[in-house]
Amino acid sequence: MKKFNLTLVGGGSTWTPGLLQSLCKMKDRFPLKKLIMFDIDAERQAIIGEFAKILFREQYPELEFHYTTNVEEAYADVDFVFMQMRTGGFKMREKDEKIPLSMGILGQETCGPGGFAYGLRSIRDMIKTINDIRKYSKDAWILNYTNPAAIVAEALRRVFPDDKRILNICDQPVNLLRSYGRLLGKDPNEFEPVYFGLNHFGWFTHLYDKEGKDLLPELKKLILEGGFKPADAEQRDKSWLDTYAMVRDMLIDFPDYLPNTYLQYYYYPDYKVSHLDPNYTRANEVMDGREKRIFAECKRVAEAGTAKDSVLVHNDAHSEFIIEVAESIAYNKGRIYIVIVENNGIISNIQDDAMVEVAAVLTANGPRPLAVGKIGTFYKGMMEAQLAYEKLTVDAYFEGSYEKALQALTLNRTVVSAKKARQVLDALIEANKDYWPELK
Ligand code: G6P
Ligand code: MN
Repeated sequence: MKKFNLTLVGGGSTWTPGLLQSLCKMKDRFPLKKLIMFDIDAERQAIIGEFAKILFREQYPELEFHYTTNVEEAYADVDFVFMQMRTGGFKMREKDEKIPLSMGILGQETCGPGGFAYGLRSIRDMIKTINDIRKYSKDAWILNYTNPAAIVAEALRRVFPDDKRILNICDQPVNLLRSYGRLLGKDPNEFEPVYFGLNHFGWFTHLYDKEGKDLLPELKKLILEGGFKPADAEQRDKSWLDTYAMVRDMLIDFPDYLPNTYLQYYYYPDYKVSHLDPNYTRANEVMDGREKRIFAECKRVAEAGTAKDSVLVHNDAHSEFIIEVAESIAYNKGRIYIVIVENNGIISNIQDDAMVEVAAVLTANGPRPLAVGKIGTFYKGMMEAQLAYEKLTVDAYFEGSYEKALQALTLNRTVVSAKKARQVLDALIEANKDYWPELK
C-alpha cells in the first residue's frame, strides 16, 4: 500500500488533536509516511505538537513527524494538505457573533454578517497559503475545511481556475448522515444521499439504503414524532442540541426535504436573534469549553509522558470525514461524499459558475458530481439570493467595493434592510481594520 506525506495547516486548531487520533485509528486505511503540522502561531501549535509526539510514539511509531512555522519545510514533497485555519482566531469569531447581535441582527460564525466578516478575513490567507503550497508541491491534493467554505470556495475558484486539486469540504452533511443513522438504527456508511445546495445551505432530497430504498419518508416521520439530535449528542454543548432540535421546526414548515441545520438562521433569523445571548455566544462557549479542555489535556499528556489514558473528546465525524475523502482520492475508491464543486449543470436551473454542495463520486481524478437536475421554485429562490450574496461578498473583496459589500449584506436573508446592512457593515469594517482590504 502506498504511504503518503500529509501536512496539516492550522496545527494549533482545537480540531487537530481529534484529527491526530483519527489518523492513528485509520492508519491501515490511509497510511502515512510523514506528517507535518504547520501554523503561524508557534506557541499554540507547540502545545498540540508535543502531545502529538507522545501520541505517535505510542500509536504510530513508524511515522515521521514534526511541526513547523516554516513554509518550505511544511510544503516540500507533500501529497495531501488538510487545511483548517481561522484568521483572527476565536477573538474575531466572538466579534463576528456579537457585533450583529448587539444591533438585533443575527450573529453567527459562517452565516449572515458574521460569516461575511469571516469570509473577508479568510480569503487573503487562503490565497497566500495555496500559493505557498503550489510553490513547493504542484500536485498535492488540498482538502480545505476553512470557513466560511462557500465564500472561500468562490474566491479560490476565481484565483485558481485551473487548479483541479483544491477541494473544499464541510463536515455538516456527514454529521447529519451519522445522526440519521443513529435515529434509524442503521450504519450511515451504507447510506447513499442525494443532496443539493450551497455550503451551510442545502437539503437532502433522498437517502437510499443498500437495497435502493429511500429512507427519507421514514426519517421525516421519526423526526416529526420524536425530534432530532446529533449522533454524538452526549458530547455536544447546549447550543448544538438546540440547533438540531430546530430541524423538526423546519420540517413542519417545509416538509419536502431534510434541511441542513444552518438553514435555521435563514428561515428564522428573528427567532434566532431573540434566543441568542448577545453577551455570551458560541465563541465564548468554545473558548470556555473545547479550547480549554483540549489545551489542558495536551499539556497534561505532555507532562505525564503518555497518551494511553487520554480521552480527548472530539467530533469523530469531523476528523474521519476528511481522512475518508483523502483515502477515496488516494486509492481511487470511487466512494460517494458530499463536497463543494463548481455547478456546471449539476443543478440544471442554477448558473454554471456557482460553487454548490452536492454528492460526488471521489476518484483519483477528483470529484465526479452526480446530477441533481431541476430544483423547485422555493429552493431555487432561496439559493439564488444566497448565491448572489456570496458572489457579491467575493466581488467586494477583490474590488475593494463598499457598494458591493452593502449589496451583499442587503441580499442576505438574515439582514434584509439596507439601513441595517449599512450599520452592521460600518461596525464590521471598524472591527476588521487589521484584516480586510479597504472598502471604498
Ligand atoms: C460544523 C460546521 C463547521 C463549523 C463547526 C462549528 O462542523 O460544518 O463549518 O465550523 O460546525 O462548530 P463549533 O463547535 O466551533 O461551533
Ligand atoms: Mn461546515
